Amino acid sequence: MLKVGINGYGTIGRRVAHAVLKQDDMKLVGVAKTKPDFKAFDAVNKGIPIYCSVPGNEKLFKEVGMELAGSLDDLLSEIDLVVDGAPSKMGVENKALYEKYGLKMIFQGGEKASTADVSFNAQANYEDAIGKNSVRVVSCNTTGLARTISTIRELSDTGKIRVVLVRRAADPAQSGKGPINAIKPTPEMPSHHGPDLKTVIPSIDIMSIAFVVPTTLMHSHAIMVELKNKLDREQVIDAFRANPRVRVLRVKDGFKTTAEIMEYAKDLGRDMGDLYEIAVWDECLNTSDDGKELYYMQAVHQESDVVPENIDCIRALGGIETDKKKSMEKTNKALNIGVGR
Ligand SMILES: NC(=O)c1ccc[n+]([C@@H]2O[C@H](COP(=O)([O-])OP(=O)(O)OC[C@H]3O[C@@H](n4cnc5c(N)ncnc54)[C@H](OP(=O)(O)O)[C@@H]3O)[C@@H](O)[C@H]2O)c1
Repeated sequence: MLKVGINGYGTIGRRVAHAVLKQDDMKLVGVAKTKPDFKAFDAVNKGIPIYCSVPGNEKLFKEVGMELAGSLDDLLSEIDLVVDGAPSKMGVENKALYEKYGLKMIFQGGEKASTADVSFNAQANYEDAIGKNSVRVVSCNTTGLARTISTIRELSDTGKIRVVLVRRAADPAQSGKGPINAIKPTPEMPSHHGPDLKTVIPSIDIMSIAFVVPTTLMHSHAIMVELKNKLDREQVIDAFRANPRVRVLRVKDGFKTTAEIMEYAKDLGRDMGDLYEIAVWDECLNTSDDGKELYYMQAVHQESDVVPENIDCIRALGGIETDKKKSMEKTNKALNIGVGR
């Protein structure tokens, strides 16, 4: 059984930890935490061993009566693969330590692509992670683009792809971030999001621009795609419906905004009310009269769409499964993905 450890138990680290607990072919040895906050209590409640990632902070855990299983070094010496869940740009600083223990390493999308041997999205390039030492799971936005654009490219080659991203200002638990009453253009042209997709689908012609808006409920994307083969609306909708990691939702069923989508996600009963699938609005998808252009809008639950990708990445990188389809199906089943339409 592959032994997995997670360094950083924040938005992404804790979700990946919970997801690892639901798999039968990998074992969560423990998580490394900097401090004994409410997330540490969550780990204790779930029976997850906690290791202290900051030397000297052991006394903070002792003060609140929280038992430690050891230090970060102890955790790294007991595992085969580490998932880095540290804040953006800190993963690269942790890399030398992971290498010292000869570990397979998974980094998150806040790291530069050069941090790892290869970037990863299960649907787009699962096989590229096999036999590597380190992999970066691409960001939440790039994952959303990779899922739906890969699905379209299974129907037709694509020409120019143009994307406008409307990004959430903060995650729900980030009380100190904004803006709270303004729309903020991202002053990079193109924004890094679309081009980041080229790290997992190199042959793609894509440009993106982005705004940040005052919401915590999902990113959304408006996507325009030139098609090499003619497609009609129903062909694309059918392909999205057939992909368990994409969920087509109708405005007329009440999904008027991202608020109703995240309310619906709570009804699905997943860990933390998460929506692992990329939501595509049925009424917001159409093709041009000549069938050579496609326009659609989608929404991305930024806190959770990368979670199944991390699980597939553990299987590919850890040498558990070389077959992408088998891994994705196993992950989907364990996380209840694609059910309850
Ligand atoms: N949030 C998103 O929407 C999202 C989506 C996709 C990808 N990502 C990427 O995922 C990565 C993690 O982001 P996040 O949103 O999960 O961040 P986060 O919520 O801030 O969590 C990061 C965790 O890292 C730990 N940490 C803090 N300082 C550390 C240090 N010096 N060394 C080791 N660990 C430290 C803390 O864990 P403890 O509390 O355990 O001490 C903290 O909770 C980033 O690369 C980010 O870009 C984020």
